[in-house]
Amino acid sequence: MTQRYRPYRAVLTGAAGGIGAALAKELLPQAEYLILVGRNRAALETLRAQLDPARIHLIEGDLTQAATLDAIAMLAEQLGGFNLLINNAGSNDFHAFETQSEDAIRSMLEINLLAPMLLSRRLIPLMKKQLHAQIVNIGSVMGSIGFPGFSVYCGTKAGLQGFTQALRRELADTSIDVRYFAPRATRTAINSDAANAMNRELRTGEDTPEAVARSFIAFLNGGKREQTLGAKESFFVLLNKVLPGLPERAIRGQLPIIRKHLPD
Ligand SMILES: NC(=O)c1ccc[n+]([C@@H]2O[C@H](COP(=O)([O-])OP(=O)(O)OC[C@H]3O[C@@H](n4cnc5c(N)ncnc54)[C@H](OP(=O)(O)O)[C@@H]3O)[C@@H](O)[C@H]2O)c1
Repeated sequence: MTQRYRPYRAVLTGAAGGIGAALAKELLPQAEYLILVGRNRAALETLRAQLDPARIHLIEGDLTQAATLDAIAMLAEQLGGFNLLINNAGSNDFHAFETQSEDAIRSMLEINLLAPMLLSRRLIPLMKKQLHAQIVNIGSVMGSIGFPGFSVYCGTKAGLQGFTQALRRELADTSIDVRYFAPRATRTAINSDAANAMNRELRTGEDTPEAVARSFIAFLNGGKREQTLGAKESFFVLLNKVLPGLPERAIRGQLPIIRKHLPD
């Protein structure tokens, strides 16, 4: 079914991050070109050198700035259009909500939720010119299961999931599909030392970015609207929907361990 999207001509945000770099490497064999977006020029250049530089285009910029969204749109148009937007950039701040800084709260809302919305809005007119195109939003298991220490992050990812579903339905009579891919904990710099220590103590299942990227490609080339990674995590997501009292009690039982690791 999704053969129709290939070869991919893709915009990938957060490309120099842990999952982003792994996605770029895994996606390139099926791509005509990739536009990689990030704030760190040197990290983007290093990544381009490891790939096929002729098929890699770079946009250096902060996704909270309109100029960055304009630069992405201009380059994509110059290249003759594109058929895949991966909203992958994100930030996290494992912290007690009560004492979390306003800057951290705003930054998570801006990069995890507002930026994918505004970038999608900016690029939809271009994508509509393609016979088939798709937007894939990178969410998180935490978008479906609220977890202490991640209140705002969970809120942004739940918002992203709701946005994905609504936009998919709004664009159902166009050439654009909108999908949601939710990794579980993954070994990248987004997780603080405190979050990693808590995950170890709670024996939280964890993936490498390379494993996430392989699952992502299978998802991309398949027909599912949404996917959560991890069998145990997928089961908890389902349980949280149908019998929320059970995960509520289980997480309450983990609260002393979570509090021990929470920065205050
Ligand atoms: N790792 C996990 O445990 C995990 C689990 C579930 C979901 N996820 C999701 O997976 C995605 C990728 O995360 P990751 O684990 O790869 O984290 P990461 O290594 O920290 O990468 C995040 C990327 O987002 C970019 N970014 C952040 N703020 C930005 C901004 N204002 N403008 C432009 N780029 C910005 C960063 O760009 P710079 O290079 O410029 O800093 C970085 O490349 C995120 O959406 C995250 O929520 C991660």
